[in-house]
Parts: sequence; C-alpha cells; structure tokens
Amino acid sequence: MTPAIEIGYVNVEVSDPEGFATFLTDIIGLTPSEPTPTGDATWTDDDAVQRVIVSEGPRNDLAVIGFEAVDSAALDATIERLGASGFDAETADGALVEARRAERITVVDAPWGTPVEICVGLERTSPGPSPLMPGGFRTEGQGFGHAVVATTEFDESVRFVTEGLGMAESDWLLTEIAEGIQLEVRFFHCNARHHSLALARAPFELPQRLHHLMFETNDRDDVGKAYDRAFDGGLDLPNGLGRHDNDGMFSFYVASPAGFQVEVGHGARQITEPWTDDRQYDQISAWGHQPVAPR
Ligand SMILES: [Fe+2]
Repeated sequence: MTPAIEIGYVNVEVSDPEGFATFLTDIIGLTPSEPTPTGDATWTDDDAVQRVIVSEGPRNDLAVIGFEAVDSAALDATIERLGASGFDAETADGALVEARRAERITVVDAPWGTPVEICVGLERTSPGPSPLMPGGFRTEGQGFGHAVVATTEFDESVRFVTEGLGMAESDWLLTEIAEGIQLEVRFFHCNARHHSLALARAPFELPQRLHHLMFETNDRDDVGKAYDRAFDGGLDLPNGLGRHDNDGMFSFYVASPAGFQVEVGHGARQITEPWTDDRQYDQISAWGHQPVAPR
C-alpha cells in the first residue's frame, strides 16, 4: 500500500476540561498548544500544531477523528473512494478549516456515529517536546498514534474503514473474555504503523465509543516514567505494563478523567509490504496488562 492518509488528530468532548488538561500535560506528557478560535484547548505530541482538541461537553467521548492526507491528490482520491463506497463526503466550511489549522477538509459521517474529517496541510510549528517526554513520540509518516473505537455498527464500520478510507486489515483478535462473551477487535493500517485505528464489536450500545487513544514514545524509559506518574498520582490503571501479542507493543493503559483510556506504549512492530500476517490472535497480551489495584 502506498500511504495516502495518516491519523492526524482527534477531537474529544470532556465534562472536566481542567482535569483532563492536567492529565494530558502532567501524566501523559503531551505538549499544550494554542487554543482554537472557539476556545478549545489543544495538545500535540510532535511538530504538528495540534493533535488533541478538547471541547467541553457532557459526552466524555470521541467527537471527531481527523485523518491527514499525504497531499492534495491523496485527499481527492480518498473523497472519490468514499463516494464510490456510498459514503458521501462534504467540503468543510472555513471556520472548521481554521479551527483545525489545516488547508482543506472534507467531512464524512462514520457508521460508528461520529464525523470523520480528512484534511490536507495540517499546520506544523514546533512548540517543542514536553520535558516529561524527552525522547519524543513516534509520529513521522505515521500520524499521532492510534484510536480504538467500539461500535454496534461493526460490519458497516469495517467497510467504511477499508473500502471508504482505503485502510487495510493488519490482523484481528477473537477471544472469550468471560464465559460466553466474545471480544472481537479488528486492526487497520494506512502506513507503517501496525494500526492507526481499531474497531471493537460492541454487543450493545456502550456509554462511550472511544476505548482508548495511544501515543507511542521513541524511548522505552519514557513509558516507564509515564507509568510512574500515573501510579504516583493514584490514577486508575485498567492495564499495567505488558506487551500486546499482535503489534508487540510494550505499554500500559490509564483511565483519563473522561473515562476513556490512554495507552502509552513503545516499540510496536511495523507493517511491511506486502503484508502477509493478517491472521487471528486469541490473546490480547503476550504478558502483563493486568489491572493494577488502586492503592
Ligand atoms: Fe492500543
């Protein structure tokens, strides 16, 4: 696959923006950036001016996923692809383009119930790495990280991601997490990152679509130090340190003040072409990732 898009940004709606701000800056180690014209606070994990846009609201969930096309032709091709698959995209107005600090944006409704924006020309500046993340994050050619979304509209969402957005399946997880309860997660790539987006089949409407966002550090020790900050802060750690079976990522998961989780990881394996390892896994983790009991 020739990379056409990468995961560019997310807009999340949270009921406690101050608490969420402290979490992103002081625990995860993202860099605060300039607020949007409408006053939403923003953070970044690299030289893009904004990667996480935080709006105040009751949902405590994902509001928008933004993908960045590698160039204008790739954006046009993606719009055409979406239309041919029955997902009509609309050109965004100037206010949205300004708020996202991009050159051009098209918006399409994803089957999981949020808009997906595809932009080109996300503004780059260099606010500098956070002192808490001295090694920086792995983003070059791969976008800010990944997002995992749970949806009851699973099959249509898979079609949207593959036929519409042109992503390819990396592999899938099918495992019994409790007696009679199957967990199915499908992982999708659009460049060398093992997955930029994963979809979980929700058995019924869950309170949140967004399971987690992931940020991948360049330095393994930066994962450990983020873990220490979360642990010392007494935060809920649904999954302590461990290593995923499919992408091999060394990571932990911390619950954000909005409820959805953030994974901080390092060292995931990369997609190589042609990709020939699209297969089922029957365990989430090779080791670890057990819940950490609150102290
Ligand atoms: Fe993840």
